[in-house]
Amino acid sequence: MAQTTAGTAAPRIGEVLVTEDRLAERISELGAEISRDYEGRELLLVGILKGAVFFLSDLMRHLDVPCEVDFMAVASYGSSTDSSGVVRILKDLDVPIQGRHVLIVEDIVDSGLTLSYLLRTMRARDPASLDVCALLTKPDRLRSNVAIRYTGFEIPNRFVIGYGLDYGQRYRQLPYVAVLAD
Ligand code: IMP
Ligand code: MG
Repeated sequence: MAQTTAGTAAPRIGEVLVTEDRLAERISELGAEISRDYEGRELLLVGILKGAVFFLSDLMRHLDVPCEVDFMAVASYGSSTDSSGVVRILKDLDVPIQGRHVLIVEDIVDSGLTLSYLLRTMRARDPASLDVCALLTKPDRLRSNVAIRYTGFEIPNRFVIGYGLDYGQRYRQLPYVAVLAD
């Protein structure tokens, strides 16, 4: 019998868009590409909490340039499935980024509004270079003119969960990316 009480509701895991194997394969390709591009330089990976943690930790294991990691946490005002572009920093970077090669690692770029804010904030701190690596993008939704240097997968305009992506803080631990079912 279907449960309706909060916390015991039936899991809303729909169609799998990116399997665990495809994730592993693509992340290894991205790691090789980034390692080639940054050869001879030191990289600072900036993961955007919380969703990017899973992607970042897998990606980092495929990098063979010297790299460090730091995190930033932001809250984007809006509904649980739509961001407004009004962003508040909940946790700032631990280290200054002036003169450093910074690669922002994001789980997903939807409208691009959050990323556009992050880029503006970090660019003002005068890094040697600033680029973006996003596991997923939704090209149909992009409303901001942000350049994403590395993209894992382009996906259709569906709300997705898993591999770091949440719905109401849940489902991050799924090893694949799936659509949120009704
Ligand atoms: P944007 O500002 O519209 O690009 O949204 C950015 C943030 O919204 C992402 O970093 C995610 O935290 C969240 N988000 C956007 N689309 C999805 C989705 O399909 N599933 C889960 N979270 C999402
Ligand atoms: Mg996020």
